[in-house]
Amino acid sequence: MSALKKLSTDRPPPTVVVDTGLELGHLPPEHKLRTVLGAALDKAAGDRKPKHDESDAVPAFTAEHFYLHQTALYTDADEPTQRAIRDRLSRAMLHEAYFIEKSGLTFGAKMALLAPSTEERMLYALFAADEARHLHAVATHIEDADELVTDNPFHHLLQDLIDHGDRAVLVFIIQVVLEGWGLTHYRQLAEACLRPNLRDVLRGILEDEARHHGSGKVLVESAGIPDAARGPIVEALVKFLSMVQSGPQTVLAAVDIERGGLSRAQKVQLLTDLGGEAQSQTRLALLKKLMTTRDSAPLLDDLEGRGLFAPLPVADCV
Ligand SMILES: [Fe+2]
Ligand SMILES: [Fe+2]
Repeated sequence: MSALKKLSTDRPPPTVVVDTGLELGHLPPEHKLRTVLGAALDKAAGDRKPKHDESDAVPAFTAEHFYLHQTALYTDADEPTQRAIRDRLSRAMLHEAYFIEKSGLTFGAKMALLAPSTEERMLYALFAADEARHLHAVATHIEDADELVTDNPFHHLLQDLIDHGDRAVLVFIIQVVLEGWGLTHYRQLAEACLRPNLRDVLRGILEDEARHHGSGKVLVESAGIPDAARGPIVEALVKFLSMVQSGPQTVLAAVDIERGGLSRAQKVQLLTDLGGEAQSQTRLALLKKLMTTRDSAPLLDDLEGRGLFAPLPVADCV
């Protein structure tokens, strides 16, 4: 008799309802559970324990990372304004990473509960632990991280997906597409990072995310995309791709605020100087590549038919 147990296929998948908790509250600093958590995080981090950078005299990321060096609205600004723009963008990058890791933590926990095999459940439980470490490491580099809130539409799209998406939808969108995209994002952030300890944190996250993305690809290539998942996948990707189509809006917003309000003509010029369309084109091409799996062609045709892999003209993005 074989010692291998068959996976049961006759039982319906469990219903798991979660609240991603983008703004899930925090225990007070003196709470004893935080001491226990701190010790557990230290143990899990081993020699990769995150350290705060002594000097935050420099903004976290280079101007070139944001293509700011190409635009007169940045290069012609005085030094304090340039500094303020880069500080604002550096904070935005860290805040985004914080909410993505916080969402990832819930994602891992939900997927562990939905897993149809012991090994898959173990893997997602370990991934959730990775995300807890990532969240802590990123928070180490954010002032008053416990106070953070977000009105970013991408974070809310992510939250909605994790709260309501079923296993097949989540594997495809979160692991294959978004964690794949996250690999490029974190790699570029690490390369552009001017703070050594933060750079180490970003590189550490990158190593783990490669595993998260890789396992998603294994699952999608082996099981394919179920028919029932196709509609919800397209629905979510339509929203996500529309955001990417409209170019570097975070950079536009930072320059707009720090330069004291830009006219429409200045915004168009700024996005043009930033190479906004080309940036979007590159990102959309990467996303399309990530979405290309053995049975995703009809899904890609649908998105292509809606023009979602082409960037919007700059004039439509302001
Ligand atoms: Fe992560
Ligand atoms: Fe991850």
